[in-house]
Amino acid sequence: MRISGKTAIITGGGNGIGRATAILFGKEGANVVIGDTDIDSGYKTERYLRELGYNALFVKTDVSRADQIINLVQSAVRTYGALHILVNNAGISNSNVKSIDLSEEEWDQVIDINLKGVFLGIKYAVPEMIKNGGGSIINTSSLLGLKGQKYLAAYNASKAGVVLLTKNAALEYGKNNIRVNSIAPGVVDTKIIDGWKNDERKWSIISTANALGRIGTPEEIANVVLFLASDESSFITGTTISVDGGGLTY
Ligand SMILES: NC(=O)c1ccc[n+]([C@@H]2O[C@H](COP(=O)([O-])OP(=O)(O)OC[C@H]3O[C@@H](n4cnc5c(N)ncnc54)[C@H](O)[C@@H]3O)[C@@H](O)[C@H]2O)c1
Repeated sequence: MRISGKTAIITGGGNGIGRATAILFGKEGANVVIGDTDIDSGYKTERYLRELGYNALFVKTDVSRADQIINLVQSAVRTYGALHILVNNAGISNSNVKSIDLSEEEWDQVIDINLKGVFLGIKYAVPEMIKNGGGSIINTSSLLGLKGQKYLAAYNASKAGVVLLTKNAALEYGKNNIRVNSIAPGVVDTKIIDGWKNDERKWSIISTANALGRIGTPEEIANVVLFLASDESSFITGTTISVDGGGLTY
C-alpha cells in the first residue's frame, strides 16, 4: 500500500475526482477525511469507504470559510492523530458568459472557493504537517489554469492563481519537508461539465480536443494525485502536472 497509515484530507471528496481520489486513497491504506458542502454525497462516500473496510470520515465543510477549514483540519487530527496529506480539490465553474456579463457576486464566489479555499487549506494544514515532520499538498488547478477559455473569466483566473500559490507554498515550506504540487486536469467526466453536454455540436468539439481524442475519467486523475501524495514523488515540488490527454499540446 502506497500511503498506508497516512491521514489525508480531500476537499470536494463527495463527487467526481475527489470521490475517486477518496476511494483510491482508502484502498492504499490512508485514513480518508472528506470535506464537502454536499452532505448527501459526503456521507455516501464515507459509507462506501467504510463498507470496503477503509477508515473514512465526512466533515461538512465549505472551503471558502476559514472556521470550517479549521474544523475540518481539527476533526482529522482529533480522529486520526495527525495530518499528512491535503488534497485541495473542491471547485466550481462559472456561468458561460462574457466577463462583462459576469456578476461581481459570481466572480467573488468562484475566487472564494477555487482560490481562497486553497489558500485556507494550506494556511491551516501546514502547521499540523510541520508537527509531523512534513507532508504533501496537492492543489487542483486545471487545463484552464494554463490556457485561456472564452466565457470562463473567473474560473480561468482562479485556476491560474492556484498554479502560483502552489509554487509559493512549495518555496515557503520545502525546508519543512512539505511538498506542494498541483494538477491540471483536462476535460473529465464529472458533473461540473454536465452543462457543456447540452450543446451537441460544441460538446463533440470540446470532448475530443486533445491528443487522445477523448475525455478523461476521475480515476485517471486520482492516480496522479496518489502519486503526488506518496513518497514515489519525493523529489517533486512546486510543479503543476497536466493530466489532460494532451489537451495543452492541442
Ligand atoms: N471535470 C473536469 O473537467 C475538470 C477539469 C479541470 C479541473 N477540474 C477541477 O477538479 C476539481 C473537482 O471537480 P470535479 O470535476 O470532480 O467536479 P464535481 O462537481 O463532481 O466535484 C466538485 C466537488 O466539490 C464540492 N464543492 C463545491 N463547492 C464547495 C465548497 N465551497 N466547499 C467544499 N466543497 C465544495 C462539490 O459539492 C463536489 O462534491 C475542481 O476543482 C474542478 O475545478 C475539473
